Amino acid sequence: MEIRDVAVVGLGTMGAGIAEVFARAGIGVVAIEADPQAMTQGLGLLDASLSRAVSRGKLTAAEQAEIRSRVRPAAGFSDAASVDLAVEVVPERLEIKRQIFAELDRVCSPDAILATNTSSLSVTAIAAATRHPDRVVGMHFFNPAPVMRLVEVVTTVLTASHVPITVAGLARLLGKEPVQVGDRAGFVANALLLPYLNHAIRLLETGYASRADIDLAATAGIGLPMGPLALADLIGLDTVLAILEVLREESGGSRYTPAPLLRRLTAAGWTGRKAGRGIYEYPDASGDQEDQNGTATDFPPPDTVTLIGSGDDVEASLATALATAGVNVTRNPAHPSDLVLIAASGVQRVLPAALATGRPHNAVGLHLQGGLSDGSIAEVVATTCSSAQAVGTAAALAHRIGLRVVHSPDRPGYLVGALLYPHLADAVRMVQDRYASPADVDTAMKLGCGYPRGPFELLEDLHPGTVLAGLQYMEQNYGDPSFAPPPGLTERATLGFVGSPG
Ligand code: 3HC
Repeated sequence: MEIRDVAVVGLGTMGAGIAEVFARAGIGVVAIEADPQAMTQGLGLLDASLSRAVSRGKLTAAEQAEIRSRVRPAAGFSDAASVDLAVEVVPERLEIKRQIFAELDRVCSPDAILATNTSSLSVTAIAAATRHPDRVVGMHFFNPAPVMRLVEVVTTVLTASHVPITVAGLARLLGKEPVQVGDRAGFVANALLLPYLNHAIRLLETGYASRADIDLAATAGIGLPMGPLALADLIGLDTVLAILEVLREESGGSRYTPAPLLRRLTAAGWTGRKAGRGIYEYPDASGDQEDQNGTATDFPPPDTVTLIGSGDDVEASLATALATAGVNVTRNPAHPSDLVLIAASGVQRVLPAALATGRPHNAVGLHLQGGLSDGSIAEVVATTCSSAQAVGTAAALAHRIGLRVVHSPDRPGYLVGALLYPHLADAVRMVQDRYASPADVDTAMKLGCGYPRGPFELLEDLHPGTVLAGLQYMEQNYGDPSFAPPPGLTERATLGFVGSPG
């Protein structure tokens, strides 16, 4: 079945992006939005995105005009009568979606496919509101829709077999990669992404780390294109909250329980980029937030450092880098050096080693995430005894040897591990539950969320044993069962095996 004309119902950020994707592919779009102000805003987003493409030399002015002419604004559903496919893109409220589907079912031709871009709600429950549930499917795009390549095609037990085939073919025509998934809350990508974002918001709320440090830990420490807090603002905090509510209802557990800060910001109307304020402030329309460079330090680097560690290669390279930077390095804790630097393991707490030096106020942990290559990050780990001077001096020292600094408390996994280990455990759990294969998970996160390496590739890079140890340590220290490593991770750590069990 060829799709020549579509209706997009709802012209918020995602709806405008999806309309753009169709129009760029030569498909006519009826843009339906009941609220005139939202229609104006949505068309404004579309125009801004196309104008940006022209200013970057990606489109000519003539192409822009042609694409724009394919989008026909409509206030009511009657204009959708002749479309081949309708995509609903309204907020995550089941009752509203069910009403829209009942209306589309009434207006659209019997051959038309009805798709929902829901991020988490049951497609089956939406389909059940229609007289022809066999033509209802999920077509889930990712934000920004013109850029992200994944489309999750969600089928239900009611979906006719030709429908996902047509939708997958359409997604390819749009330049996207379709992945077929079952009707489970959050599908693949959101079910993994959202608890990770929630956890990051909770780390901010509990003062674990600053917003800049949390985001830098994810970008420079894990290699992700955006930090979780900036990403939550991009998605919209109201949307993040709505998806978490659905995930919590379906799956339970504290990972899905929305952080109170998320509720407060949403209640205040600070819903992220689209509102000009969320976790960050967005003073102008560029969408850039103010600080993302980690925490600056005013302390000068030290002249002499006592380096304590387990004598591994990383510690030896660190000693060499310090010496090359003109710092005197001693291994003697009794030496009256300016700073005691404890080469930290990435999992274990620093405090016992700091106490053993007899100078815990001078002692700070340094964990090198990704070695000493240019642009790598150093986690500066402050124990409860570390003085502000020691922490600032350690940060200055890390800057001097070319590292980017994030500050972390002396808790299991520090900051990068605290973000990453539970996220990877969620991915293993999803595969263990036979909901998706490691390849599906990696594809979803790479194409939907721009990860350069998928969760299973990251697990392989880090080694499952390291992630297992980190989670065990987190579980013991926090007493939170949500950190308990899934059996699938223990098996992978024992076998040194990362791929699909089946
Ligand atoms: N709309 C349209 N195009 C946009 C855009 C937007 N909002 N933001 C960026 N772009 C385009 C730019 O125009 C540019 O296009 P070009 O290469 O053709 O010139 C390209 O994207 C790269 O943009 P920039 O160079 O300005 O910025 P970055 O290189 O930093 O990339 C990013 C920006 C693509 C947003 C990148 O940071 C990224 O991949 N972030 C992760 C986003 C993500 O995870 N999305 C999924 C969220 S989950 C979701 O949506 C599901 C939902 O159900 C909640």
